[in-house]
Amino acid sequence: MNTQNQPKLAAFPPSAETVKRAHVTADDYAQMYAASVSDPETFWADQGKRVDWMTPFTKVKNTSFEPGNIDIRWFEDGTLNVSANCIDRHLETRADQTAIIWEPDDPSKEDAQHITYRDLHASVCKMANVLKELGVEKGDRVVIYLPMIPEAAYAMLACARIGAIHSIVFAGFSPDALGARINGCDAKVVITADHAPRGGRETPLKSNTDAALLHCKDSVKCLVVKRTGGQTTWTDRDYDCNALMADASAECAPAEMNAEDPLFILYTSGSTGQPKGVVHTSGGYLVYASMTHEIVFDYQDGDVFWCTADVGWVTGHSYIVYGPLANGATTIMFEGVPTFPDAGRFWEVCAKHKVNQFYTAPTAIRALMGAGNEWVEKHDLSDLRLLGSVGEPINPEAWNWYNEVVGKGKCPIVDTFWQTETGGHMLTPLPGATTLKPGAAQQPFFGVQPVVLEPTSGEVVEGNGVEGVLCIAGSWPGQMRTVWGDHERFEKTYFSDYKGYYFSGDGCRRDEDGDYWITGRVDDVINVSGHRMGTAEVESALVAHAKVAESAVVGYPHDVKGQGIYAYVTLMNGEEPSDELRKELETWVRTEIGPIAKPDLIQWAPGLPKTRSGKIMRRILRKIAEDDFGALGDTSTLADPSVVDDLIENRMNRR
Ligand code: WT7
Repeated sequence: MNTQNQPKLAAFPPSAETVKRAHVTADDYAQMYAASVSDPETFWADQGKRVDWMTPFTKVKNTSFEPGNIDIRWFEDGTLNVSANCIDRHLETRADQTAIIWEPDDPSKEDAQHITYRDLHASVCKMANVLKELGVEKGDRVVIYLPMIPEAAYAMLACARIGAIHSIVFAGFSPDALGARINGCDAKVVITADHAPRGGRETPLKSNTDAALLHCKDSVKCLVVKRTGGQTTWTDRDYDCNALMADASAECAPAEMNAEDPLFILYTSGSTGQPKGVVHTSGGYLVYASMTHEIVFDYQDGDVFWCTADVGWVTGHSYIVYGPLANGATTIMFEGVPTFPDAGRFWEVCAKHKVNQFYTAPTAIRALMGAGNEWVEKHDLSDLRLLGSVGEPINPEAWNWYNEVVGKGKCPIVDTFWQTETGGHMLTPLPGATTLKPGAAQQPFFGVQPVVLEPTSGEVVEGNGVEGVLCIAGSWPGQMRTVWGDHERFEKTYFSDYKGYYFSGDGCRRDEDGDYWITGRVDDVINVSGHRMGTAEVESALVAHAKVAESAVVGYPHDVKGQGIYAYVTLMNGEEPSDELRKELETWVRTEIGPIAKPDLIQWAPGLPKTRSGKIMRRILRKIAEDDFGALGDTSTLADPSVVDDLIENRMNRR
């Protein structure tokens, strides 16, 4: 595909000041990037030094994308402990420096907490000892279902300290989703809290956990952190985290782990089936998280870094906890939401803690842009030096607002493209090196070799001004290693459509200058407010309802969320559509998966467009959802083409 006729867009070269301060200039980038791909062994052997090893590695890279033998190992004979790298090694020089600034949901009720590296060490050791008391050993799995409170970071690092593998489940997920993840990795312990305050409301995490555990082995133990002090039930399997930590020793020797021992599992949605457990290991992941955090955000000693994500997503793993703490940074952990108590909350927190780097998602930027500039202007943002964006393409309007109103035209914006699977940034501008283009993820990070493939033939598309699917040739240290318990699914999902490459699932354009623009998912994954959702998951939740015969879910453009969830629903014979039933289905999906999966629009569909072999033609459903009836394409292969007319005619019955 040729895209030569794209209009020339505004471009923003880095200011002299930014270049002067930056870790990497344009010349550095060119030279370092070339070195990183021509001789990855030497490049990554050098970068491997950012981590303290117990036994130094002698092997750097041992990776294969060959069909039948997908095998990814980095620094494979080195040993280390991730928690010691994030805490202990800083104690000599920065014990009294703040490691984590915790900012509560409601600033009128509670103050922020400043947790030093010394405090962090004590709390993590205590929690590690508590986990040991509960019988958790090296290699065991621990599920974490917590609000954004310091204990979430303690729990992650405590697992890392004793070699247990954590799997965080976002506190917005339902009991069913939690139960499936506890069972999916056969966890020994689940760590939760009484309640999770967020945006002035409370989610009953403990009772959600109780409901989830009804479907789990009796042996699973539940460690409960007191957050609100609100009432909860108490059973034989429950342990009081605060009481146990108070009695536990503040010393716990870090376990010696192999570089390739799993650090965490994180479930994420795919185009088919139920979410899969993405496995990240210890050495390569930490090297990559640390390097990207330092270079992409131009993190310098003494800076205050704020990533607004939740630790329930990979962004929180890599850029609230592991990357920043490995670098001895001060990182903010924010319990709240952008619009509570008012739409100035982000900027109030930036001013209060003198934030230097601020990293958020386009959906939040769009929502705050809609709230008006006065919310930004009343706070002092003069310490801001860099802005980041992640999770979905950022539209130029939102980019410009972020640049002008938040950054006052002086903060470079890094639009970082990456995925749960990639562990860290893949395509991104570098603040001191890149002339920014609003909406483009631009350049590969060191060691990352993007290739554009023709979607059907799989042939490599060379040159600039081209479009296709985005694949990556060769491995990078932060890459996921397998799908928990299902290596075959790992190969099938990422390495089978385009042999010899890692397939991202995204489409992209490489413009005339060689800059990359992500054009969105090419599979049945949708991106709702920066949250990834498999349409198959929402469909299977809907058809689990007794009145639903069939359902097809697609994404459609949504002003704030980026994409909304559009569900076509065919009811069982004899069932009548009604507003009441629509609400019932919305609530049903919320309870089956969680609030983020609630359909934005439901259209009653007496029939769905299917091929003669019974395959639903989603292309047509997407077009109808987009109100793009002129572009339905060929419908002649449908078993019953009249279904389409009916869907178009009834598109108004949605809400
Ligand atoms: C999908 C990954 C790890 C980041 C948080 C989301 C989309 C992510 C960008 C960006 C355009 C982006 C892609 C990707 N995406 N960042 N800067 N520009 N699209 O992680 O839940 O694993 O989702 O988010 O479609 O495949 P995730």
